[in-house]
Amino acid sequence: MKKYQLIEVCQAALLSLLICMPAHSGVADESPYEGPYHNEDIDDRNQRMAWWREARFGLFIHWGVYAVPAGTHNGEEIENIGEWIMHYGRIPVSEYKQYSREFNPVNYDPEEWVRLAKDAGMKYIVITAKHHDGFAMFDTAVSDWNVVDSTPHARDLLRPLAEAARKYGIKLGFYYSQAQDWVHPGGATWEGRWDPAQNGGMDDYLRDIAVPQVRELLSNYGEISVLWWDTPIDMTADRAAMFDGLTDLQPGIIFNNRLLYGKGGTYGEVGDLRTPEQHIPPTGLDYDWEACQTMNTTWGYKSYDDDWKSSEQLIRNLIDVASKGGNYLLNVGPMASGEIPPESVERLRAVGDWMEVNSSSIYGTTASPFVRLKWGRATKKEYSNATDLFLHVFEWPEDGQLRVDGLRNEVSGAYFLADYQLPIEVRKSATGIVLDLPNQALDPISTVIALKVKGELDVERILPTQTAEGGIALTVDDANIHNPGYGGRLRIGQGSNFASHLEGWTDSRSHVDWLVEIDRPGNFQIYADVAAGEPSGFSLQAGTAKEKQLTVKPTGGPKLFQRQLIGTMELPEGESKIVMRPQEPSWRPIILRSLNLRLLTDSEK
Ligand code: GLC
Repeated sequence: MKKYQLIEVCQAALLSLLICMPAHSGVADESPYEGPYHNEDIDDRNQRMAWWREARFGLFIHWGVYAVPAGTHNGEEIENIGEWIMHYGRIPVSEYKQYSREFNPVNYDPEEWVRLAKDAGMKYIVITAKHHDGFAMFDTAVSDWNVVDSTPHARDLLRPLAEAARKYGIKLGFYYSQAQDWVHPGGATWEGRWDPAQNGGMDDYLRDIAVPQVRELLSNYGEISVLWWDTPIDMTADRAAMFDGLTDLQPGIIFNNRLLYGKGGTYGEVGDLRTPEQHIPPTGLDYDWEACQTMNTTWGYKSYDDDWKSSEQLIRNLIDVASKGGNYLLNVGPMASGEIPPESVERLRAVGDWMEVNSSSIYGTTASPFVRLKWGRATKKEYSNATDLFLHVFEWPEDGQLRVDGLRNEVSGAYFLADYQLPIEVRKSATGIVLDLPNQALDPISTVIALKVKGELDVERILPTQTAEGGIALTVDDANIHNPGYGGRLRIGQGSNFASHLEGWTDSRSHVDWLVEIDRPGNFQIYADVAAGEPSGFSLQAGTAKEKQLTVKPTGGPKLFQRQLIGTMELPEGESKIVMRPQEPSWRPIILRSLNLRLLTDSEK
């Protein structure tokens, strides 16, 4: 990856800078680490993952000593995420430790937290047992840097949470920062150490602190369902293997993919689930994944972070994630007093109100069978000879006619989850089915329609076709988006004038394709509706034909759109797949609204 690309990716990832870190030397040459479950057969794996796939929605809790400074150290507001204050403020170990004396969560009510999660419709909780500041939120025998020995509260915080979770039937997982530890000597740091007290050997740190602490966590709190590793700086296969055997303590435990970096410095492939951080992938992924996201911009509490996402956004994010077959792990950052910020509580309640009516369209569902629905999202539940489709209507149709293009099945019933009595008339159309809806949305955030269809799902892709003049438009709405690189962020964005476009094209591996149906083949001129700050190289390929090298010219600014002729291409009769890929080394990020193909007449050829 070229340097400027890395910067681009990092900018896109903004708060998840660590995703961009190059793998540290020593990782690449070793024999690969395969993880504790590498011998597991598929049925056992499916069984182990079953509750998690059914759950779809969990609560992330980032809580620790960093909630005391809450983003301000010595009167100075420290930039970036709150739980990283020790790192960004370059706070010496002994000075940071003073904050624990003020960590006194007198209002901590774990039952209330668990109820809040449950009422929001969440099925599991993942809490920071130890974050990068090395502070244990539990009673540990291997270090005094813990809530019992170093705070006025002097009690284990995880035990009552584990009890409450069990009481309310919520699964519990622990986040544990196995590699980064800015307080215990030898722990890894990002961008170097800043206090000699941090000096030490990492193997010693792992052996004396991290491994025994994880052992304590998996031994002393009853059933633990998830172990959420993070930022595997300087982890090697041998170091990862030091944690082996811990699955014996919690058979069936689920691990995320952050025990070890994979190739190219991204989070690895070992683990049960991948962890897109602070973003939702544009399309489904063919493995288990969990998008984790903050409600404002920080994980750990920051007193002045008011950049809250709306409840509408959070609900739609949950639906969006489910429609792509993933789980949504939504974060709260409690205060040092033990309270969850009221803005977060308010949002969790709003999600809960929506879930109370609509949760059957989320739990146990799988990804949408439609490539894209212009008015919203879909989820589904498949049975042996029938399917429940859940249509999530974000944009209510002005004419009351909701078009479900491509659906070929017989529909045996349709009703609103919010009102079973309200009739919905279903009609077949040339392209699929049409639902006759009332004039107004039942829920402006997302009204859910349950559609019962007979038999195995039969969804046909509706392909763009030629106009009378033979032209064809390849719009972003019809594009298949691929982000094979872990840092890929290519997605559909909405411009101020509501024209959708492809943005976040910061990884040269990200590409798009369109399937088209051509009945008048020939030679086509290609016009791009595009914004480009610099010349940018791409290739276009139709079917098995040779790739065409094309250049998008600068449009006068990275956000200034222009329609420009970029070349010509042949298209054969019938169905064709047109693939557009960045071409190194001349590729630069662009924003694309559409490609428009114009059929050349005989006299123009
Ligand atoms: C990160 C950060 C962090 C946060 C987390 C959540 O990479 O280091 O502070 O805990 O991921 O995904």
